[in-house]
Amino acid sequence: LSLKPYNTFGIDKKAEFFTIAKSVGDLEKALIWAKHKKLPVLILGGGSNVLLTQDVQGLVIKVEIKGIHLLSEDDNSVWIEVGSGEVWHDWVRYCIEKDWAGIENLSLIPGTVGASPMQNIGAYGVEIKEVFHSLKALNRSTMELSAFDAEACRFGYRESVFKHELKDQYVITSVTFRLSKKPQFKVDYGAIQDVLRERGIEKLSIQAVSEAVIEIRQSKLPDPKEIGNAGSFFKNPTIEKVQYETLQGEYPTIPGYPTPEGIKVPAGWLIEQAGWKGKRIGNVGVHARQALVLVNYGGGTGEEIQDLSRQIQDSVHKKFGIVLTPEVNFI
Ligand code: EPU
Repeated sequence: LSLKPYNTFGIDKKAEFFTIAKSVGDLEKALIWAKHKKLPVLILGGGSNVLLTQDVQGLVIKVEIKGIHLLSEDDNSVWIEVGSGEVWHDWVRYCIEKDWAGIENLSLIPGTVGASPMQNIGAYGVEIKEVFHSLKALNRSTMELSAFDAEACRFGYRESVFKHELKDQYVITSVTFRLSKKPQFKVDYGAIQDVLRERGIEKLSIQAVSEAVIEIRQSKLPDPKEIGNAGSFFKNPTIEKVQYETLQGEYPTIPGYPTPEGIKVPAGWLIEQAGWKGKRIGNVGVHARQALVLVNYGGGTGEEIQDLSRQIQDSVHKKFGIVLTPEVNFI
């Protein structure tokens, strides 16, 4: 079966076996079947953060566990458990309708709810860890369902324990969020300010912030339905202050944001300066409006994207001495 409809890069690689899990029971059955057959398993959510570079041996399980349940509430907050197969932006829209605040800045991010804690998704000043309460995950070898709180998930910038120590050991089945009935808006991000001003918005609302974020994303990021992509391809690197200051000598306009670990430099800027923005090589390329996004114009292969990403890494390293790490998972 071709996995083309199941990855937002639109890469045409095949799965040896494929199934859809609509419940925890389905998931268990599929995992046990694969175990008996001694087959490797690949779990797919929305397929919005993977690059398929070869056909997938074994069983691909697409998780479509649905459901949104209010667990409890008080004067300030609601606790909601959401099935991992819910589409992320549908869940954001649900919160906007209910007037629950906390994830409006994360509007229009592709992918599913279950994938969101894997890499602590974030945008426009908000990361999922700020509204995360806990998650449930199925152990792939013991079939036990365990709960993880925020500490157990060890969230970092685009990181969690599920990308490291517990990689490939669990399947997330639901995520519980704590959202607020009394919004505290995060609109420091310059582009959000600009859109709110242009639209003449004086009184902030969850809806207005969401709409501003949607406008910004639509203006910069290609719609995967039209042009294959997986959002940011690389992480923004953090470098030491001394290295940053040295670079400033040569490139006075280099942007940088201080963090506890050092100075975070936008990878998009580095890639643009290295001359890649808008470049096309065959069927793949670097997006013209956001250099951090690699695109498949149609018919591109995972190998071509991988090759392009290596060329970008090499040239950014040569020019700035900075190593770019992919944010996308290679398979
Ligand atoms: N920039 C350029 N040229 C470009 C792109 C960016 O010079 O072509 C520079 C500019 O200085 C700009 C800065 O980079 O001010 C930041 O750009 P942008 O606001 O577009 O954000 P980003 O750092 O490139 C990150 C996330 C995005 C998220 C945005 C908004 C990562 C890897 N990416 O991108 O997340 O939407 O911030 O908060 O941290 C994703 O992970 O897939 C993703 C889209």
